Amino acid sequence: MWTKKDLEEFVRKQFVDTKLIVVSNREPFQHNLKEGKIECIKPAGGVVTALDPIMRACGGTWVAFGSGNADHQTSDKQGRLQVPPENPQYTLRRVWLTKEEEERYYYGFSNEALWPLCHVVYHRPVFRTDDWEVYQRVNQKFAEAVLEEIKNDKAIVFVQDYHLALLPKFLKESRPDIPLIQFWHIPWPNSEMFRVCPYAEELLKGLLANDILGFHIRYQCNNFLDTVDRTFEARVDRERTSVHFGGHETLVRSFGISVDFEALSTLAQSSGVEQKIKELQDEYALHGKKVLTGLDRLDYTKGIPERLMAYGRLLEKYPEYREKVVFLQIGALSRVHIQVYKDLNDEVNALVEQINWKYSTDSWQPVILARRQLAYPEILALFRLSEATLVTSLHDGMNLVAKEFVASRFDEMGSLILSRFTGASRELDTALLVNPFDREQTAEAMHQALQMPAEEQKKRMNRLRAVVQENNIYNWAWKILNELPRIAVTV
Ligand code: F6P
Repeated sequence: MWTKKDLEEFVRKQFVDTKLIVVSNREPFQHNLKEGKIECIKPAGGVVTALDPIMRACGGTWVAFGSGNADHQTSDKQGRLQVPPENPQYTLRRVWLTKEEEERYYYGFSNEALWPLCHVVYHRPVFRTDDWEVYQRVNQKFAEAVLEEIKNDKAIVFVQDYHLALLPKFLKESRPDIPLIQFWHIPWPNSEMFRVCPYAEELLKGLLANDILGFHIRYQCNNFLDTVDRTFEARVDRERTSVHFGGHETLVRSFGISVDFEALSTLAQSSGVEQKIKELQDEYALHGKKVLTGLDRLDYTKGIPERLMAYGRLLEKYPEYREKVVFLQIGALSRVHIQVYKDLNDEVNALVEQINWKYSTDSWQPVILARRQLAYPEILALFRLSEATLVTSLHDGMNLVAKEFVASRFDEMGSLILSRFTGASRELDTALLVNPFDREQTAEAMHQALQMPAEEQKKRMNRLRAVVQENNIYNWAWKILNELPRIAVTV
């Protein structure tokens, strides 16, 4: 099992005098002005959850979009600050974007074109030339910030996600000596899906400037290789799982991302979390009830309406659960400038209202919806008071909520109801696996979880914990860095 200390030592020994630069759109710490006070939050999402522990272990610089309204005030002239603010361990370098850049690069091309293109959930991608132009410009802007951070030193650059598909190409042009790794946190669709993108070729060429390109699961690597094969002339080496293009080789590998299992499992046992459990029980009147939970960014890929409809079906089919079970759905609003996200919010509100209208009694509200961003002690408290947590994504690269839930259940109790269409379902095979489009099956999984004898819960959870403990986030980082000796550029 890899620990934080093992990774620290590995990096110190292997990469002497080499800077580690992580680049992502989302920043790990965001400062906002609220009621006259500056508060620092950790944004929700897989990138921050996974990469922050690695940066704490390895040190280095994280380059990201400064999106908080008090970010300028809390950074120096170059946009730099030391984080975490309470115990600095690495540098955050903020990149400033104009409103137009944010609109077209983040909301437009990244989240109205690439996001629906890669998630097969039947939302049409929207391609606008203006968005694409700004996407290119912003990727160039990120490249300039990264080059400023590298100066003339040795470095490894680790790029995150779909917002920055062109960044490796810009970096390679200026610094061919720097090893470039990119991890694609969302699914890669099959070539028939991807080919509708008018900029498919440019995007692929951007990604093929990487020395290593990572996906969560092998299936996504294969989709990527097929996409390249069908888009232009490049040599796809299926044996080595790599692509040769323009005299350069990109290794394509699967690395299943994870969480800091030990840290979460330890924190879950703290008195602070015990206290939060009581607070949540008081706040939402959960005492004496069996609680089903969901925790997601409000995104149409997460299958939140499907989950609520399945819960409605559970109450209809098994009236004995009425007044005994509560569904607590928590999640922060996300990408609300985009119409489909506003529509989703309305749809979720309507479903909650409908279920509550149909089944509520004087002393019981079947569904509670809280639009809140939770910090770790509360997240773990939420999981610990759950009879079952539902992760019902319609399509998801990995899904770290599932792994966080498992890490929190040191008591080996509780059930995970997990969509088959998440990367996580490949590893977490003793969860209750469901097709979230199948309402009846998801309702039955809730019934099974609510009836499951303690011994079976323990057996299943024990296996889930062993998997997440072994494949923790430090192991993920080590596996990626350990591929570096196989690339042509030397560190
Ligand atoms: O995992 C996909 C992802 O886009 C991550 O990049 C990010 O952490 C998360 O979803 C949250 O999305 P956003 O950064 O748009 O709030």
